[in-house]
Amino acid sequence: MDLFEYQARDLFEAYGVPVLPGITADTPEEAKAAAALIGGTVVVKAQVKVGGRGKAGGVKVVHSPDEAYAAAEAILGLDIKGHVVRRVMVAAGARIAKEFYFSILLDRANRSYLSLASVEGGMEIEELAVERPEALAKIEVNPLAGIDEAKAREIAVAAGFEGDLVDEVANVFVKLYSVYKGEDATLVEVNPLVLTEDGKVVALDGKVSLDDNAEFRHPTHAQLEDAASADPLEAKAKASDLNYVKLDGEVGVIGNGAGLVMSTLDVVAYAGENHGGVKPANFLDIGGGASAEVMAAGLDVILGDEQVKSVFVNVFGGITACDAVAKGIVGALAELGSAANKPLVVRLDGNKVDEGRAILLEANHPLVTLAENMDQGADKAAELAAAR
Ligand SMILES: Nc1ncnc2c1ncn2[C@@H]1O[C@H](COP(=O)(O)OP(=O)(O)OP(=O)(O)O)[C@@H](O)[C@H]1O
Ligand SMILES: [Mg+2]
Repeated sequence: MDLFEYQARDLFEAYGVPVLPGITADTPEEAKAAAALIGGTVVVKAQVKVGGRGKAGGVKVVHSPDEAYAAAEAILGLDIKGHVVRRVMVAAGARIAKEFYFSILLDRANRSYLSLASVEGGMEIEELAVERPEALAKIEVNPLAGIDEAKAREIAVAAGFEGDLVDEVANVFVKLYSVYKGEDATLVEVNPLVLTEDGKVVALDGKVSLDDNAEFRHPTHAQLEDAASADPLEAKAKASDLNYVKLDGEVGVIGNGAGLVMSTLDVVAYAGENHGGVKPANFLDIGGGASAEVMAAGLDVILGDEQVKSVFVNVFGGITACDAVAKGIVGALAELGSAANKPLVVRLDGNKVDEGRAILLEANHPLVTLAENMDQGADKAAELAAAR
């Protein structure tokens, strides 16, 4: 999960990283009040999860609450690379002497951490990395050792810092690493880290990505989630602990095991070519325990997708045998009642397949069609979707 700048700022503050006061605002009135509270020169900054805000007109320096009102009015609603600005942060203005760059990130390819730093930070960092890569220090960080003071100084010197600044920025690097480590982040980036005219090192921008796999260790991270911008169906699936990804087609897909579901998407897309080009509507892996509740939760999410015209349930019975899955489907349909209103094609195979099929035949639900195999099931589901 990527954080907004204001959320990164708050985390930085909690870990002792020097930041400036910042207040979020969702309306020009709120921005004006925030500017009055902070006082003096302030910066009104678009809060969107995409880079290049400054160049897109999403960062404005202003000198009074009325100017902050006008700046917020201009920035709110702005479309920055497909991200519409719904909130701004009003931050205290810094008198900048120099802009630097620092980041620490998970380096998957090398199974390690990597720190990038440069004395030439600011909005042109992407160009710097391409045009003069030697100006951007790249230092591997051993995940077991992390960034202590000595390592931080090594990074600072490699980045081109000199004199007293080495110790000052190194001190901030250590704190930024404690954010990275303490929050289980995969990225902590500060661009720009600045030296102010009165000689202080301050983080003026922050980009933080958190590792979703570590969510269980951080009960507070759930609050950082941007419920408003997440897909409502994906949010609903997540609330039921389902592995669901919304796609742009008409055939809902439910399967057990990520590999089987992935290949089901392929087979449905292939079959769809013979039926007007219908496509899979989603990825949904209900995992090993295909109980009635899980099946009902999965069907509920898929049937809530208005684009869905038919559903293909493709299950290979393993530890959870086909009879349990069949009971799950029958139970789910009973539980959903009139909410179950789209045709279901069910393909079962594997452990106790005969018992499973017998249960579905016995139930004889008007919406359910039994398929002999995966190809036939995909074809039938695509045909049904095309017909509606
Ligand atoms: N609080 C501040 N006071 C003074 N100047 C600021 C402040 N915040 C940002 N700036 C100036 O605005 C520039 C752009 O700001 P910022 O880095 O936050 O956005 P950005 O880099 O354009 O966006 P992104 O990091 O998403 O690409 C900075 O390089 C800095 O010069
Ligand atoms: Mg920036």
